[in-house]
Amino acid sequence: MVKIAPSILSADFCKLGEEVVAAEHGGADMIHIDVMDGVFVPNLTIGPPVVKQIRKCTTLEFDCHLMVQKPQTLIQGFLSAGSDLITIHVESDKDTDAVLDEIRAGGNKAGLSLNPGTPLSEAEPFLEKLDLLLVMTVHPGFSGQKFMPEVVQKIRDAYKRIEELGTGIDLQVDGGIGLETARSVVEAGANVLVAGSAIYGGNVGERIAALRMAAESY
Ligand code: DX5
Ligand code: ZN
Repeated sequence: MVKIAPSILSADFCKLGEEVVAAEHGGADMIHIDVMDGVFVPNLTIGPPVVKQIRKCTTLEFDCHLMVQKPQTLIQGFLSAGSDLITIHVESDKDTDAVLDEIRAGGNKAGLSLNPGTPLSEAEPFLEKLDLLLVMTVHPGFSGQKFMPEVVQKIRDAYKRIEELGTGIDLQVDGGIGLETARSVVEAGANVLVAGSAIYGGNVGERIAALRMAAESY
């Protein structure tokens, strides 16, 4: 079954708590939290204090996507703020093994993300210790960008590799996912769809249901 992860980056921050609750009531499987540091990507967003506040609004899993240059400095902050899954980027500046271990030692699931231009081989050494692999379908930094169809082959390859390993980890996609693109990524093997602008800015429950239907239509 496909899991839907609304990205609150596209939510109305004047009523962030209500937007999180709307996603939960609307059938979301987790809440995707885009963390940007203004260095790894040219945008600055959410940190642990905000995560701690919205933790009071929902019991849904918090999927924290760290688009930051030095994730090792932030892991403890997110763990204590109430994260459930922390995904770091393979392109960031760190000892990947040590950071993944720290995430798991803190009781969270560990994810690893690949930018559109980064080959799957960069994730290969870590695949067996991951709970989730995130294949970015836009260049990270902003919501509302156009889906990059050239990444679909990497999703297929990642799915194949995960099947070969038999570890059953989640394969997530993020960026430009909506009614027109959901089917192609699910067909390629993705089972967790992040969506920001396709979910927020309208009736959240209806949009989640429509996206799920589009994703499961193949
Ligand atoms: C991009 C973020 C995404 C983004 C998704 O850097 O990681 O999660 O907010 O937004 P949409 O679905 O609008 O592309
Ligand atoms: Zn994201």
